[in-house]
Amino acid sequence: MSRRSPTWTAGGAGLDIADPLLYVGDRHLDVWREARRTHPIAWCESERAGGFWSVTTHRLGGQVVKHPGRFGSALGMRLGGNEAAVKAASGRMLVVSDGTEHRALRAAHSTWFNGRAVAALQPGLERMIDDLVRTLLERGEAFDAVRDLAVAIPTWLLFEMMGVPPGDRDELARFIAVAFDDTDPGPAAASARTAAHAGVFAYFADRLEEGRNAPGDDMVTSLAQATVNGRPLSDEEVILNCDGLMNGGLETTPHAMSGALLAFIEHPGAWRRLKEDPGLIDSAVEEILRWTSPAMHAMRTAMTDSTLGAARIREGDRVVVWFPSCNRDEEVFPEAGRFLIDRRPNPHMSFGGGPHYCVGAALARIELRCLLRVLRRRVAAVEPAGEAVRQRSNFLNGLERLEVTMVPELHGEEI
Ligand code: HEM
Repeated sequence: MSRRSPTWTAGGAGLDIADPLLYVGDRHLDVWREARRTHPIAWCESERAGGFWSVTTHRLGGQVVKHPGRFGSALGMRLGGNEAAVKAASGRMLVVSDGTEHRALRAAHSTWFNGRAVAALQPGLERMIDDLVRTLLERGEAFDAVRDLAVAIPTWLLFEMMGVPPGDRDELARFIAVAFDDTDPGPAAASARTAAHAGVFAYFADRLEEGRNAPGDDMVTSLAQATVNGRPLSDEEVILNCDGLMNGGLETTPHAMSGALLAFIEHPGAWRRLKEDPGLIDSAVEEILRWTSPAMHAMRTAMTDSTLGAARIREGDRVVVWFPSCNRDEEVFPEAGRFLIDRRPNPHMSFGGGPHYCVGAALARIELRCLLRVLRRRVAAVEPAGEAVRQRSNFLNGLERLEVTMVPELHGEEI
């Protein structure tokens, strides 16, 4: 017996919306469509994740993320998160903080993420992507667009911003790849994850010590020098937030990039229009973000009893907003199921909303913009070279593998 009402019946009895396997296929899109229509907010009992309110419409999702006083983040922001890790990070790591701690930590991050700082990164980033795409074209072989392109770009950029020396990059990238990969629930994978995460923490502890001795012009140093409510961040807080930036920046952006390639493969008309009209790049970036919705959900905990839509929520209840569903809400997006690169307005929720709105949004946008600029210039067509494989996750939405070939543009100009 469920202890809340309404409960969710969309998708049929026995459906577990928190089951990562549901997201390997395409069935979740139908499940969410049905939920938006009949149960925009409903109580779900998940075998693996326990009970929670599930929110699938743009309007209700916005009400959850924009009211941190009603729905807090300090008790965790993802279903099935590691409780001990959340407890250790709560109030000290941006994404699991509320109120004054959150505001102060957010200010400590702002130097590197405001529009001007991010715009200054564009020329170097575009050169890096250009070199990478040219190398892939020269090889002339099929490649995995996730690993070889979509992961490589944000990894390079974040390592540059964090001042990771070239000699350390391969090892750190290996740690990160294992530490943040939760697609395998087995015990061996879990202990590999724990060990790799310890490696990431140890790496940033070393970098922090170096930065304190010889401050550089990098993000680790600037976090080390930041103050929160009049005191400097502790070493642990710096390291936790470096980890948060790696997690936030490297787990999501690749899904938008590889998802963009798949979208253009599946919508050749959109690719042709983008090739013809560079004026569409900015609206194409927003549509890619809406279409791919790399963050699958954000969770909150109710701080008080309240009403949301048809639901009476009690203090302590967990509330989960499914962003890809909000982004396909037919009441907000006309022809929501179509990939329209000239869609305007496009009030997607891919970066969440409210005070936790993605701190890296400008960075992600510039990464996508540079990628589109380079692809337009260098690539005539992207073609599939294997089946797209979706990631097994209820937290991240996107591809694990996408084998493609790229056809070079004969008259590709220089930057
Ligand atoms: C397409 C790429 C990205 C997507 C879809 C995305 C999505 C999101 C979403 C939905 C949130 C809100 C989480 C919540 O409400 O609990 C968030 C927060 C955050 N993101 Fe991103 N993100 C992206 C790129 C990045 C990048 C490039 C970085 C940094 C390098 C980053 C770092 C963060 C951090 C630190 C937070 C926590 C902000 C806070 O709590 O105030 N993200 N992101």
